[in-house]
Parts: sequence; structure tokens; C-alpha cells
Amino acid sequence: MPSHFQSVALHHASRLINHGPTVLVTSAHGGRRNVMAAAWSMPVEFTPPRVAVVIDKNTFTRELVAASGAFALCIPGADIAGLTYAVGSSSGRAADKFAQHAIAAQPGPVLGMPLIEEGCLAWLECRLIPERHTEEAYDTCFAEVVAAAADARVFAGGHWQMQGEGDAALRTIHHLGAGNFVRAGGMWRVGG
Ligand SMILES: Cc1cc2nc3c(=O)[nH]c(=O)nc-3n(C[C@H](O)[C@H](O)[C@H](O)COP(=O)(O)O)c2cc1C
Repeated sequence: MPSHFQSVALHHASRLINHGPTVLVTSAHGGRRNVMAAAWSMPVEFTPPRVAVVIDKNTFTRELVAASGAFALCIPGADIAGLTYAVGSSSGRAADKFAQHAIAAQPGPVLGMPLIEEGCLAWLECRLIPERHTEEAYDTCFAEVVAAAADARVFAGGHWQMQGEGDAALRTIHHLGAGNFVRAGGMWRVGG
């Protein structure tokens, strides 16, 4: 399947998660890899681009992120909402969720984090910002975005393009809780 992914300038990376899509947090360390769902992520700084994501201290993801100092945020399209929910409902401690769900991944260009493009619309490779107090006290992790790419059919010129209902596969998903999602779309312009 041809990839429509093109690299995104780092100064545009925050726009990939500006609208609050549910993301897949991928991680790897010492020959292990993992993927979980996260509804809570956001940009927090402009230059260099920095993000915050809530990764529960009890998750296997958090263990790998602490060990490697890195993770990636992959932004799923509506076609893989079911998969997103599934990897957010089981732990990768016992079994490799990539193998379990036949998820294809490739190593990221800077940190080697597993990047998912099939069914996803964008990814951000992120280096954890070590903050001992924050890490001990909170589930929130801060990180710097060091590489990003997006599907050029829906993210072009540094902006999402989601006019009309469009192709569901090319729409980001947003968790309402309890397994209910809405997908983005119906974009309109009021200025700028
Ligand atoms: C739609 C959805 C959104 C979620 N959002 C978050 C989140 O923002 N932060 C978090 O820590 N866990 C979140 N979770 C729960 C984790 O994905 C879940 O604990 C997962 O099983 C952890 O996997 P792991 O132990 O393999 O890392 C979410 C789950 C779902 C289904």
C-alpha cells in the first residue's frame, strides 16, 4: 500500500494534536515494544515544539517510556477506532499488542520509536523531558517533538484539511468515554 505520509515541519507539529484527537502512544525499549490509546494529549510549547500526554504510571507504556526516554504519538483515522479501543483496553506486559493485532510499524527516524502509518493520519516522535518531580507526582509526561509526518491527503501546508464528512478513514477520532467516539469533519473557516 503506498504511503501518503510526508514530513511535517517541526513548527507545524503542534497543529497535529491541537484539536484533541485520540492518539496511539507507541514505545520501545530493550527489545520490547508497546502501544496504548490516549485521549489526553496536547501541545504545550511553541519552540521547540513540546507536548504533554497523560500516561498512567501503572501502564507498561510508562515503564518503557521511563526506560527509553522516548515515545511516539500516532494519530489514528476512524477506520481503526476499534483497534484504538482494543489497545487501550489491554496491557502489553503479557503480550506484544503489535503482533496480537497484526499492526505494522516502522522505526522512527530520530529515536527509533515504532511508528504506525497504516490506518493512521500522522505521527510525532517525541523525546521525554526528564522531570523527576513531575514523573513521581503525576501521570503527565512532557516531551519535545523531534520528528513529525502526516498523510498529505488531509494535512497540507501546515494545516488539517477536513472539509465535509469526507472519507471516514481520513478523519481523526475523539473519545467521548465508554467506547464512544466522534470523528472530525465539517471544517469551516471564520477568519485567518
Ligand atoms: C479511548 C481510550 C483513551 C485512553 N486514554 C488514556 C489516556 O489519555 N491516558 C492514560 O493513561 N490511559 C488512557 N487509556 C487507557 C490505556 O490505553 C490503557 O490503560 C492501556 O491498557 C495501557 O496499556 P499498556 O499497559 O500496554 O501500556 C485510554 C484507553 C482508551 C480505550
